[in-house]
Amino acid sequence: MDTARTAAQLRTATMMWSLRDRRIGFVPTMGALHEGHLALVRHARELSDRVVASVFVNPTQFGPGEDYGGYPRDPERDATLLAEAGCDLLFLPDVETVYPPGDATVVDVAGPPAEGLEAAHRPGHFKGVAAVLARLFHLVGCEVAVFGEKDAQQLAVVRRLVRDLHFPVEIVAHPTVREPDGLAMSSRNAYLDAGERRAAPALHRALSAAREAIAEGERDAGRLRAAMRAVLAAEPLVTTEYAEVVDAETFRPVTEARGRLVLPVAARVGRARLIDNLQLEVDGAAEAPR
Ligand code: PAJ
Repeated sequence: MDTARTAAQLRTATMMWSLRDRRIGFVPTMGALHEGHLALVRHARELSDRVVASVFVNPTQFGPGEDYGGYPRDPERDATLLAEAGCDLLFLPDVETVYPPGDATVVDVAGPPAEGLEAAHRPGHFKGVAAVLARLFHLVGCEVAVFGEKDAQQLAVVRRLVRDLHFPVEIVAHPTVREPDGLAMSSRNAYLDAGERRAAPALHRALSAAREAIAEGERDAGRLRAAMRAVLAAEPLVTTEYAEVVDAETFRPVTEARGRLVLPVAARVGRARLIDNLQLEVDGAAEAPR
């Protein structure tokens, strides 16, 4: 696996592939890689001839007081893991490569699904995500990009961005990869101490409780929210930010749990801010997990 640090180095590799009609798959990440990220790389491998992964802790998607400075960084370990997962090229840019000095161009998904939930709790976050992905998609010139369902609202925002700006990129979703106790893998799980780590699967338990309630016929979104909040509240180390039932396309809250839904939860556990979600298609009385 090669590593490109500049736009020119990246282009040299990708232009050769494009000239030879190689389909380029792309997995953007912020590094501190875990099995969730690597599953995306393997998925991209199946969908394309060459795989590029980026490791870039994007400053524009962190708010003031968030963990930009302390975000875990280990590019050497990341490079080893990516090579093992079948990545062909690691793009490891510095901030000036992605955002040239004087960079002044704004990309902003200014309506649904970039409203509420993460957008409300992290103002400016999706603007930063859109800013970096617009630049990365252009730099990499990929035909397909793989994203995790773990960041469900981000995935919906990326789909909107790609549709609205006509990026010739197919966006593919990969299911959330979990620890054996249900905790969604996340680079931020590294912030958890032993007690917090034991408490953190409460997010997954809350989602499982909602799934069971739906399977038993519950369709009232208010009662589903309350059921999730009750599970989270039972864990003293967990502080809930939101536990919602939203439409899968708009991410707007629904009153009745029917159709394509996402149940997103966000909570603080110690220093870590964790998110997770459940995606369902509910019709009539029967529910089928997606
Ligand atoms: P990061 O948090 O590093 O995640 C990179 C990709 O890995 C995202 O598509 C995310 O949804 C996916 N991912 C993370 N944990 C996962 C898990 N447990 N199972 C499956 N996929 C998982 O998301 C970002 O970085 C950034 O916002 C980025 C898109 C790179 C833009 O800066």
